[in-house]
Amino acid sequence: MNNYKLFIDGNWINSNGSLEVLDKYSQEVYAQVAKANEETVDQAISGAWHAFERDKLSPFERYQILHKASQLIIEQKDELANIITKEAGKPLKQARTEIDRSAQTFLVAAEEAKRIHGEGVPVEAAPGSENRMAFTIKVPVGVVGAISPFNFPLNLVAHKIAPALAAGNAVVLKPASKTPISSLKLAEILDKAGLPKGLLQVVVGSGSTVGNQMMKDERIAVYTFTGSAEVGLKLKQETGLKRLILELGNNSPVIVDKEANVNLAAKTLAAQSFAFAGQVCISVQRIYVHESIKDTFMEKLTKQISALKIGDPSDPETDVGPMISEEEAKRAEKWIQEAVSDGATIAHGGKRKGALLEPTIITDVTKEMRVVCEEIFAPVASVISYNDLDECIKEINQSDYGLQGGIFTQNIDTAYYAAKRVEVGGFMINDGSQYRVDLMPYGGVKDSGSGKEGPKYSIEEMTEERLIVMNLKE
Ligand code: SIN
Repeated sequence: MNNYKLFIDGNWINSNGSLEVLDKYSQEVYAQVAKANEETVDQAISGAWHAFERDKLSPFERYQILHKASQLIIEQKDELANIITKEAGKPLKQARTEIDRSAQTFLVAAEEAKRIHGEGVPVEAAPGSENRMAFTIKVPVGVVGAISPFNFPLNLVAHKIAPALAAGNAVVLKPASKTPISSLKLAEILDKAGLPKGLLQVVVGSGSTVGNQMMKDERIAVYTFTGSAEVGLKLKQETGLKRLILELGNNSPVIVDKEANVNLAAKTLAAQSFAFAGQVCISVQRIYVHESIKDTFMEKLTKQISALKIGDPSDPETDVGPMISEEEAKRAEKWIQEAVSDGATIAHGGKRKGALLEPTIITDVTKEMRVVCEEIFAPVASVISYNDLDECIKEINQSDYGLQGGIFTQNIDTAYYAAKRVEVGGFMINDGSQYRVDLMPYGGVKDSGSGKEGPKYSIEEMTEERLIVMNLKE
């Protein structure tokens, strides 16, 4: 049995409670982790605040620490990938990609630490201000509160911690209670990389205790959260005028136009609908296919899906592993059955065994069905045919969400026409909605959230712009 402690003020500490982390495939207990209580959370926030006041690292020192952390992540790739596979049930090959991406996130944040700057402001152009000079500087906000989800237990944590530290802040992190071990390993790595004690605090526990306490604490200046729209809204209500980066839900749409490369579309969408069992905020969920190519597309899509290997995530060949829990798999199965009883057809998959749900394609859906209009967060996608692109875009935009979307077409005019009209934060041409590299701006519109991730963009949210005006002699 693996035992893990909390990371408070640079020390590993126990508490009087603990939580069990299950191996998501075998459902056996994989690790025992100390659970934070009210006192530990308070100690963590206070420690972060003091460390922020005490340890003012230069941009170059921040660069060195984050750069070193990126190297250590790669050195520990096998161990970290194994942890992600166990605690999240993520197929090993996808876990290994997540490690590479996390190293990139730290590397990009390290570079960005050297580029944080304000700008000159030509105040002398205002009448009566001729002898003044002004410029802005970017100052850190103080303590950043980070609340991360289970689906990318390392890289979505990296997206919160690395830019916060690059900007000169301290961080209190609450990782998802189902997958906290990757975060604790990351704390160990940052400690080894030379991060001064207290600048990162990791508190493990449930959202209703640790998360709620963090939301109410005045010492936290900015929150960065990835999770459901419901919790995002609660955070907004609880934190008043504070700045928030919210990465919330989505039901990603992708259009397959009549001029699409159908082979490319089928191959890409089979991969992007089912990676990590569809538990990715930009997983392809609604596939809008032009009626004239629907049969060809369906044939190619189902052929691609049949080639996916389903099962044990630690098998390096596996493409689709278990969902995060049997309860979640049952919930998704219920949504599928509900759609079928309302007239939908299962074109592929649909069966569940424990937490393993087969990659599923549904047709004959209506826009009111939950599998279409809500975020299913499971290996399930719907194929919807259309004839008129404007009508299709109108239907896409009826969604409450708007994180990322895409179109497959070889007609550049059609591609750009759609890109300007589909209401999302990011739009992919000849790729699916799930395309993401870590340096790009990432964030949604409508109920998908506000603010952007990507180190350069998060740093903007995690710093204040301060204006300095000098009154000079003639
Ligand atoms: C997410 O689920 O929001 C993250 C997707 C990614 O980083 O690829």
